[in-house]
Amino acid sequence: MITVMGSLNIDLVTITDRFPTPGETIRGSGFSTVFGGKGANQAVAAARLGGQVKMVGKVGDDLYGESYIQHLKAENINVTRVSKESDYPTGTAAITVAEGDNQIIVVSGANGAVSKTYVNESLKDLEKGVLLVQLEVPDESVEEAMTIAKAQGMTVILNPAPFKPIPAEWWALADYITPNEHEAAALKADQNFKDEYKVKLVITYGSRGAAFIENGVETLIPAPEVEAVDTTGAGDTFNGALAVFLDKGFELRQAVEKAVQAASLSVTAAGAQGGMPYLKDLR
Ligand code: RIB
Ligand code: NA
Repeated sequence: MITVMGSLNIDLVTITDRFPTPGETIRGSGFSTVFGGKGANQAVAAARLGGQVKMVGKVGDDLYGESYIQHLKAENINVTRVSKESDYPTGTAAITVAEGDNQIIVVSGANGAVSKTYVNESLKDLEKGVLLVQLEVPDESVEEAMTIAKAQGMTVILNPAPFKPIPAEWWALADYITPNEHEAAALKADQNFKDEYKVKLVITYGSRGAAFIENGVETLIPAPEVEAVDTTGAGDTFNGALAVFLDKGFELRQAVEKAVQAASLSVTAAGAQGGMPYLKDLR
């Protein structure tokens, strides 16, 4: 069982040749509205790879919110703890895809209303397995979820994205922390990491693959070469896949190998969730 506590966003995606500079207006070549948000993206990735997934989060009481809930149901995700918050709109992300990369502005909306109390109520009947969290809902709620899961002996994966420094206490709550290469430097240098190496860092390196650090030794798992269409959500696919294969009892190395494959496939189609593979698509 995988519980994902985190954000649900509607992604407003503009495709263009290059990023505009401040004050500049340029022409785009395409626009689409798709499902996103790091939490829900990771939930979808995990469900497609055969995980039994429960999503904990909030959407607005609006059309986007309702269609997101229907979408998650269709992806076989348990949505009993995805509530509609009437005071806020569903979270949105304005995304520009250009130059083989992306730029994202996230507006929290209902994700910001995922309170500590809500998390507490939602995780009352947690089962064994994995808890997966990111940083698009309030910090205190992330901490609460990890605390509850840890106390129940679950495996806790913290994806520190979008990145901010990790409070010292969190090192005792997470089993795995999964930064990208830019975020990893600060974590590797953190005394809480070096002192004990109890937390395992799993670092994503974009098209180069991903690495894991166990007992101070970093092992790189290279990625297969693919034709990248849209890298949005690659990290989310990686995290969802990692959660599934750890939940299935795979060794860390094998779980990272599977997650690298899954993330590579995800970038071959447009949209955060477009291209996320199913179990049959993996070697
Ligand atoms: O990780 C990609 C996601 O980040 C997008 O789907 C967007 O919603 C932002 O949350
Ligand atoms: Na994609």
